[in-house]
Amino acid sequence: MGTSTTSSARPAAAAGRMAAVNEMTRLLRLLFEVEREYLRTVTTLVYRVGEPELKYLICQHAWESAGHARFLRERGRELTTFGTHDNVRPEITRIFEEAVGTSTSDPLVITAGFYRVLKPALLAAYQHYLKVTDHLADWPSKKLVEEFIADEERHLREIDVYLKEVDAREWTTHLTQALDDLGGWLGSETRLPLAASFVWQHEKTPFTHPATCNRGRYPVCSGVFGMDPTEDPIVRPWLTDPKTDARVIRLMVYVWLMMEMDAIDYLATVFYDTPKAPFDLHFDLARHLWDESRHSQFGFRQLPKLGVDLMTVEHSLDLYNILIQMPAHERYALMTMEFEAGSFPTKATVMDRVRELNDFEADTLLAFDRNDEQNHVRYGHRWLPEMMALFGETRPTEEFVKATQEKFKEVAAVYGGKVPHSLPKEIRLTGEKVLKLAGVN
Ligand SMILES: [Fe+2]
Ligand SMILES: [Fe+2]
Repeated sequence: MGTSTTSSARPAAAAGRMAAVNEMTRLLRLLFEVEREYLRTVTTLVYRVGEPELKYLICQHAWESAGHARFLRERGRELTTFGTHDNVRPEITRIFEEAVGTSTSDPLVITAGFYRVLKPALLAAYQHYLKVTDHLADWPSKKLVEEFIADEERHLREIDVYLKEVDAREWTTHLTQALDDLGGWLGSETRLPLAASFVWQHEKTPFTHPATCNRGRYPVCSGVFGMDPTEDPIVRPWLTDPKTDARVIRLMVYVWLMMEMDAIDYLATVFYDTPKAPFDLHFDLARHLWDESRHSQFGFRQLPKLGVDLMTVEHSLDLYNILIQMPAHERYALMTMEFEAGSFPTKATVMDRVRELNDFEADTLLAFDRNDEQNHVRYGHRWLPEMMALFGETRPTEEFVKATQEKFKEVAAVYGGKVPHSLPKEIRLTGEKVLKLAGVN
């Protein structure tokens, strides 16, 4: 970019005249590429770590990184040599691919690699930018970078509690070596070329998504929706039966919201599988992911307040287990065109019933959930055709969605319903227990 090979004096002179701007633009470009590639790869942690609070935090950080990348690109495009494409250079991609680890790696060690090596190096890169740029001439970038530094410092503090006990020295040394070869993200530090004995692990063992997602210490099952109040916590006909007590519906919808943890886990798999996607696609996916993590938190935080012991609420794993057997564009099609688009009528009934309780907080959470979901379906309409193209899918969208719905049934027959209940029905949350907790006889 930018370097002219012509012998004419004119472009050379122009480049010389604009050297100060071009140099800062080069750094902004690198920072943009690092943030976008971070987003694409850090999301592979979401379904591998087990602690819900850690999943939520990674989703939040991923969304903030998406914001950094977007602002960097916006500012960069005000400067002529930034470039109009979203591509990431291979030497940056290679380090993030390595950081993803393998499907058998300890997810907390992998998390430590991102947060003890790659993120601190990004923080150092932002600090370097601030040091070398002119604070008056480049004020627009300076303002952004100052904010990003504060974000990065907070991210490191927020993750710390999850990594305290983690010994990741071997892995972080390995990643540090890979990064030192570049001289840090901006090449501003001394380069330490890779030792001849250094082996890129991702070249030996490419990453694949695990066949199931991790829920740590929490009990699991195949699904939480059913017809039998002695078996399942969400009794389908009760949701729309006008005779159901509104307090029962409120508890069931909080279980439903908490189970959007499965949406977090399977949506997070889509970034890694679409390395050639335009950044705007990943930006909207990041928003989608963060929204789902907040929806799940609605349930995760409200259920204990209503007397539910979270250790009795089994997590449903079927959707992840089934969808991970299908390619990313099919996962995304089912999510936006089937699960989300199809949930509005029942949710509307549920919201009307919950309003009987004059529970302002519940009404608020459900209203924002609905608003977010409408956006998700919009994202689906916007991005599904582009994602199909990335996978060489040429059928009309509608035909593809129909075929994918059929395929889902076949895959579900093989991979669904395989997770046994962690807890006996006497212990786990069921419709009958929801009645008791709601104070309904
Ligand atoms: Fe949601
Ligand atoms: Fe959604």
